[in-house]
Amino acid sequence: MHHFAYKNGVLHAEDVPLSDIAGQVGTPFYCYSTATLERHYRVFSEAFARSSTATPVLICFSVKSNSNLAVVSTLANMGAGADVVSEGEIRIARKAGIPADKIVFSGVGKKPGEMAYALDEGILMFNVESEPELEALNDVAVSKNMRAPISLRVNPDVDANTHVKITTGKAENKFGIAWERAHAVYARAAELPGIEIVGVDVHIGSQITSLEPFRTAFAKVAELVRELQAQGHAVANVDLGGGLGIPYMQGNEPPPHPEEYGRIASDAFADLDVRLLFEPGRIIAGNAGVLVSEVIYVKNGEAKDFVILDAGMNDLIRPTLYDAWHDMLPLVEATPDTPHLSADIVGPVCESGDIFASNRDLPLLAAGDRLAILSAGAYGAVQASTYNARPLVAEVMVNGADWAVVRERQTYDALLADNRIPAWLGG
Ligand code: LLP
Repeated sequence: MHHFAYKNGVLHAEDVPLSDIAGQVGTPFYCYSTATLERHYRVFSEAFARSSTATPVLICFSVKSNSNLAVVSTLANMGAGADVVSEGEIRIARKAGIPADKIVFSGVGKKPGEMAYALDEGILMFNVESEPELEALNDVAVSKNMRAPISLRVNPDVDANTHVKITTGKAENKFGIAWERAHAVYARAAELPGIEIVGVDVHIGSQITSLEPFRTAFAKVAELVRELQAQGHAVANVDLGGGLGIPYMQGNEPPPHPEEYGRIASDAFADLDVRLLFEPGRIIAGNAGVLVSEVIYVKNGEAKDFVILDAGMNDLIRPTLYDAWHDMLPLVEATPDTPHLSADIVGPVCESGDIFASNRDLPLLAAGDRLAILSAGAYGAVQASTYNARPLVAEVMVNGADWAVVRERQTYDALLADNRIPAWLGG
């Protein structure tokens, strides 16, 4: 459920008409809803609070899904930790007020400098993804006279049945340590002076719409934790990753509710003395954001019609990259007798792939009309680029009847500020 809805024929974010914001900040812009973020966080955390076993849980918002400081701060205020994949994301999490001891650091390519930074910050744990990374982390920690708290991210070889570009838990994916190597690598970790084993970690993919892959992976991980504890390893934290899908298309069967997901996770680990960690991104932020754009032209082509927006694939790349579907709503509500069109909804970028939707049926649109591309709160702004020398768009956050720009639209000066002309070209 989200808080973007028509009131008196005008699309609102909570109590604010999106057209008011468009009038003041221009288009395109991302708009996030505080009430939706808070609601999703609450529903996700309550899924565990209500389960029969009182397994302690830490929810680490996956900052890669939306790293806007206002979004992360909203969640920090609710008690969220952070799942980060770079020094930059650690800095964002810390600046947003997330305590270091609620930060887990994932990612296959952590560099020594990033490791040192995370150690100095005092993060909760490193989710180590390979044997060379374990050795490198040990070296960094030893050189600083410290011990790095780690879990190994194990790859359970489970098919998450999601888009091939966002599946991570199959043996052929680059993520995690091969299941068969897990015991050997834990044994090695236990020998290393700069390493302290504190957990186990798994993440099988994103936008997962069935519970089965989770059930399979959780059962395998629970078994592994039992074995590791029996061998004397201090596995106190079990990080089950993120991945629960969200509804992108209204009218489609919704993905499993967090409550069902929470139940299978709690059940799988009910007999184990561990704290469960989760790294949700999309389920928290996805439906808490929209991208508002204006129609520049409607072009009636030979083969089909095109609605050309002022937002492009550089602003929201999900349809181009993952063939993702995003619902779209005009800011002014259509009436039952508004005629419809079927058109390709495209951006201005010079790429054939700059398409938000093909043959989409929408209420008739004309130049100057505005529409909201829904479910753009996760992996939207964070994946934006300045391709075609298009400045990054503004981001806005609504809170009831209040709203604020939470990231300024990039200026042309800022776009060019870090370019340098070398001396041999007269610079
Ligand atoms: N933890 C780890 C280790 C991850 O790799 C990810 C996402 C998450 C947590 C959060 O997963 P979520 O709860 O958001 O599904 N850009 C793609 C999604 C990439 C997901 C990458 N990893 C998209 O727009 O669909």
